[in-house]
Amino acid sequence: MTSVKKGSEIELTIDSLAFGAEGVGKVGEFVVFVRGALPGQRVRARITRKRKSHAQARVLDVITPSPYQTPPRCQHFDDCGGCSLQHLQYEKQLSEKHQQVIDVLHRLGGFKNPEVLPPAASPEIFFYRNKMEFTFGRKRWLSRAEIDSGEQAAERDFALGLHVPGRYDRILQLNACYLQSELSDAIRRFVFRFSSASGMQAYSTEDHRGFWRFLVIREGKNTGECLVNVVTADAGEEGRTLVAELAEQLVTAVSGVSTVVHTINRQKAQVASGQEAHVLYGPGYIHDKLDEFTYRISAASFFQTNTRGAEVLYRYVREFAGLTGSETVYDLYCGAGTIGIYLSREAKHVAGIELIPEAIDDARINAELNNAGNCTFLCGDLKDTLAELRTSGNSVPAPDVIVLDPPRAGLHPQVVSQVVDLAPQRFVYVSCNPATFARDARLFSDNGFELVKVQPVDMFPHTAHIELVTLFANTRGNP
Ligand SMILES: C[S@@+](CC[C@H](N)C(=O)[O-])C[C@H]1O[C@@H](n2cnc3c(N)ncnc32)[C@H](O)[C@@H]1O
Repeated sequence: MTSVKKGSEIELTIDSLAFGAEGVGKVGEFVVFVRGALPGQRVRARITRKRKSHAQARVLDVITPSPYQTPPRCQHFDDCGGCSLQHLQYEKQLSEKHQQVIDVLHRLGGFKNPEVLPPAASPEIFFYRNKMEFTFGRKRWLSRAEIDSGEQAAERDFALGLHVPGRYDRILQLNACYLQSELSDAIRRFVFRFSSASGMQAYSTEDHRGFWRFLVIREGKNTGECLVNVVTADAGEEGRTLVAELAEQLVTAVSGVSTVVHTINRQKAQVASGQEAHVLYGPGYIHDKLDEFTYRISAASFFQTNTRGAEVLYRYVREFAGLTGSETVYDLYCGAGTIGIYLSREAKHVAGIELIPEAIDDARINAELNNAGNCTFLCGDLKDTLAELRTSGNSVPAPDVIVLDPPRAGLHPQVVSQVVDLAPQRFVYVSCNPATFARDARLFSDNGFELVKVQPVDMFPHTAHIELVTLFANTRGNP
């Protein structure tokens, strides 16, 4: 049998895709995770890391192709980490994600036979994203094709694009992208031309110097509105004048931009948010629609990134919530109030909590926009604010139904115990991370809430991600 040690070459058949989109195969009984390999392939691979229970490897070559393989559509596929599964047939992506959710619930949550329904497909599998976040950088990554075509001579110290996987200092400049729209592509190209000729450098986390940091483009897929958010470091008056010039030229050159915002991030943390925001053109927000509801979304507010996928997701939330019109519903981690408002016509009262003040401003406006007079929204960290719903003059009744939709890190243990103490009849937990969901689901399950069912929704075709809508029932009653 081939020995499995770091640096050795092995040959193996890939049986499945692990959570995170690595191929999984075995050498004898020893499990090997192979980056870039697909189920059904036989590959030659080199071991890059050896652990007691498993090893990691990378593909050297494919000996037998996978019957599920399909030619990737994108010219940047080999360099860009954005769509790591674009070369796997979509049906197979869904069935692999289904199995991954079952495995994670079993392995990390200890659930023996959880009812995991087959994933709901995304209505669109290309051009589905309504938000793209591009990074400015000083180190442009050249693809093999660019190197072969002599592009080395091209400017390499200014780029605007996506990070190369595993190389967080390198930026891949895109010519085209199948996740975003044509309009988004045109905006990115214009902003690149303007910024690279501006005389100001891209920001770098190596020396924390430079001006241009991020370009965030947001589109209302059901309204056609478009927000451009340029995030920079602080360069005083000079910087503000420069971005104002960019905004003026952009809206003339590229039609379809409805608003431009300049966000200034003075901190070292490389995030596309900041301490100051200036609206340079238009109202500073856009609208999008999910089924019959219209939502205002500002630059700092969360909104599901796949609009048509969000409609599928929210319909499951509505079905699982099973409202009859008499219930008080808590929408926890409510963002711009989108789920709560979506449920408001079948509820007696909706109360939402969210950390970001701009999102809560949006939520309150969104309640008005949708004539949802039965909604209350509160701003704060959930673990400290949940109790306030029933005090501080808010006097919202205890919830019959709760909806939880936390970020990838899942729930703070204090939130789990507060939800348990609130003893709703049932709750719907929406998760974008099956691993943290499995951890939290185990805690709920040990405290009187049965995991009834799990509906995966594929909000992110061609990527390793999957969203879950899940239902828990109170088996303990109201203490
Ligand atoms: C996955 S988003 C869900 C938003 C909304 N439910 C939706 O469907 O658009 C998670 C939200 O939780 C908010 N958030 C993150 N940490 C929080 C905390 N500790 N307390 C309250 N809200 C928080 C984020 O700002 C974000 O809006």
